[in-house]
Amino acid sequence: MSRATIDACSLTLRCRLCECASWQALLEHRRAIDPVDLRAAFAAEPGRAARCTTDGAGWTLDWSKQLMQPGTMPLLLDLARERQVPERFAAMLAGTRLNWTEGRSVLHTALRAPPTATIEVDGRNVVPDVHQTLGRMAHFSRALRSGAWLGATGKRIRHVINIGIGGSDLGPAMAYQALQPWRTRELDCRFVSNVDGNDLWMALDGLDPEQTLFIVCSKTFTTQETMENAGSARAWLVSRLGEAAVGRHFVAVSTNAAKVRAFGIDPDHMFGFWDWVGGRYSMDSAIGLSTMVAVGPERFGELLAGFHAMDEHARTSPLESNLPVLLSMIGVWNASVLGLPALAVLPYEQLLARFPAYLQQLIMESNGKRVDDHGDVVSWPTCPVVFGEAGTNGQHAFYQMLHQGTTIVPIDFIAFRTAAHPLGRHRLLLNANAIAQAQAFAFGRTGDEVRAEGTPEALVPHRTFPGNRPSSFLWAETLTPATLGALIALYEHSTFVQGIVWGINSFDQWGVELGKSLALNVIKGLEGLLTSTDHDASTAALIRALAAEAT
Ligand code: F6P
Repeated sequence: MSRATIDACSLTLRCRLCECASWQALLEHRRAIDPVDLRAAFAAEPGRAARCTTDGAGWTLDWSKQLMQPGTMPLLLDLARERQVPERFAAMLAGTRLNWTEGRSVLHTALRAPPTATIEVDGRNVVPDVHQTLGRMAHFSRALRSGAWLGATGKRIRHVINIGIGGSDLGPAMAYQALQPWRTRELDCRFVSNVDGNDLWMALDGLDPEQTLFIVCSKTFTTQETMENAGSARAWLVSRLGEAAVGRHFVAVSTNAAKVRAFGIDPDHMFGFWDWVGGRYSMDSAIGLSTMVAVGPERFGELLAGFHAMDEHARTSPLESNLPVLLSMIGVWNASVLGLPALAVLPYEQLLARFPAYLQQLIMESNGKRVDDHGDVVSWPTCPVVFGEAGTNGQHAFYQMLHQGTTIVPIDFIAFRTAAHPLGRHRLLLNANAIAQAQAFAFGRTGDEVRAEGTPEALVPHRTFPGNRPSSFLWAETLTPATLGALIALYEHSTFVQGIVWGINSFDQWGVELGKSLALNVIKGLEGLLTSTDHDASTAALIRALAAEAT
């Protein structure tokens, strides 16, 4: 193990979470205040909403409807201090190899650092490399947007297909939808991720190969889904335009130059990034090429500036007014202390419809871990199940369970005061729904209130809302590239802080490996290259049942 790795470990290996005095104090506090009644808490403290509202980097967070008493957050911040959150954040920004199971620095913040910054990895300042790549991306994007970049037959590119999966898809796909008001109408972007051929098939539907360009995004350039899709896309293009056309219709984003070259993509048309950028933290690297093509280098610069504004807020704000730390410690309280196993993320903004899916990877691939830095199985719950849907659609789907179900699900509402569209009262109605839902979850409706409305006694239990369902409310003025960047950085840092508190490595993802390697044998089974005795009985039966699909 290298010196830097050991340094990173030693930052962590001071004590286990359960050995921290502040953790024990928190558990004791929970026993003392349980259960928190939000009606009573608001009645007892007229200034509760003001006390629990904080802003930074264009965002405001109201956490007054969490199941907490005035003494709760100070204890949570004591825990953050004891877990050395500020020191660990500084270590991350300085390039320490915090991803110690893979021996890597964690430096997505360098992707949005100004050109004057100095951030070193192994003695090399990486900031000039970042800005050189941004410059190449900008050059390519401008050429594509203006029509200067032509396809092999001299026609202008009108369709861009991003092929990638996980971090090489979710961020760009989410951002493309979020930034629709800013995108050029000269071309459109489509996103292909699933190895299911229907994904590529549908994306290609109606496209003219002479006017289509593929961006193959893969950090490793070995991911099965992406390589299969890229191969099929290449075959589609070559069958119509010939082999010589590949160079004008394929570009790559990767850290693996050798594999990109082997695929037949000119290294001049490859945009690189670095092993210190995790896949789920990469949408502001060259992985965001489709985003830059769609909205232009200037708007992409605003997106990066938004990320950086939240980085600076996180770096410089005291814990008490530090949005990522507050959001993070709320999550620790709900998941680990109260034992609430889920988090619903509910953007009241249709443009953020893909944001919950993006957060699923960011949060669950980062913190879905059961072993701490000591190698011990943890005795505290870690990552919640993250899900969500744009409001108001979710209200007519799963909110029933959120209001009256037996599992209490903490919620993050996300809203914007104004909209990019010019349509009448829509934003007012949307925001009214968001605010009313937060109110209903917190305060419910008592049996007496239901009776007072003249409800028949037999229906009273059915129409009663228990309330005390915790939520946070995040809002900004309007959705812009900058507020989007800041929002993503907020969740990135919140995820990081939770990993520190839980004592887990938020930057590896060994849990995705087993399924990938077993699939290799199942492929052989489906191709008839292994016999059924090479598999367990259930797997063998499934292979027999589905083999026809494979041929
Ligand atoms: O799901 C596992 C994973 O490694 C993610 O972390 C990553 O974002 C995704 O696969 C795609 O990887 P790549 O960019 O190397 O194709």
